[in-house]
Amino acid sequence: MSDQALVFSSADALTDFGSALGAKLRPGDVITLTGGLGAGKTTLARGLLRGLGHEGDVPSPTFAILQGYEPPETRLPVGHVDLYRIEDTGDLGELGLDEWLEDGALAIEWPDRLAGRYDAIALALQIDILADGTRRLTARVPRVWESRWPVI
Ligand SMILES: Nc1ncnc2c1ncn2[C@@H]1O[C@H](COP(=O)(O)OP(=O)(O)O)[C@@H](O)[C@H]1O
Ligand SMILES: [Mg+2]
Repeated sequence: MSDQALVFSSADALTDFGSALGAKLRPGDVITLTGGLGAGKTTLARGLLRGLGHEGDVPSPTFAILQGYEPPETRLPVGHVDLYRIEDTGDLGELGLDEWLEDGALAIEWPDRLAGRYDAIALALQIDILADGTRRLTARVPRVWESRWPVI
């Protein structure tokens, strides 16, 4: 595992990074997105889905909790998850997260609710808003991602 930091000066730049990540995504991958409200987690996930071929809108899954995308729209199945509203971790089982990993991938906002469940395999991305409004992305790169990093 190694930590890597990148700075993005616009939402478009973060979206482009997400697209590059999407092009490298494989079944079984988990990407976790950590950072405060408005940091850019959903912006990155939109880029990711675009990189997988999705052309339509990507609503924030804050209320749906899980928004699924599947071929032929995307190159592989992806569950876009936002656990912000999960209070009772017992509700997590109903989401069927592991089923997505059988032939697809997960992008998970607010992964702290998962108590480290995918820590060993997840590409863990933390986004911080810097004083000048740019975003610093700190990546924890697990072994399964080492040959694919840096993505751009
Ligand atoms: N450098 C940047 N990277 C990402 N988003 C940015 C940046 N600068 C401004 N923004 C804005 O910040 C907001 C991020 O919102 P969103 O991606 O929904 O955040 P989150 O999902 O983390 O709550 C968007 O309105 C986006 O346009
Ligand atoms: Mg969000």
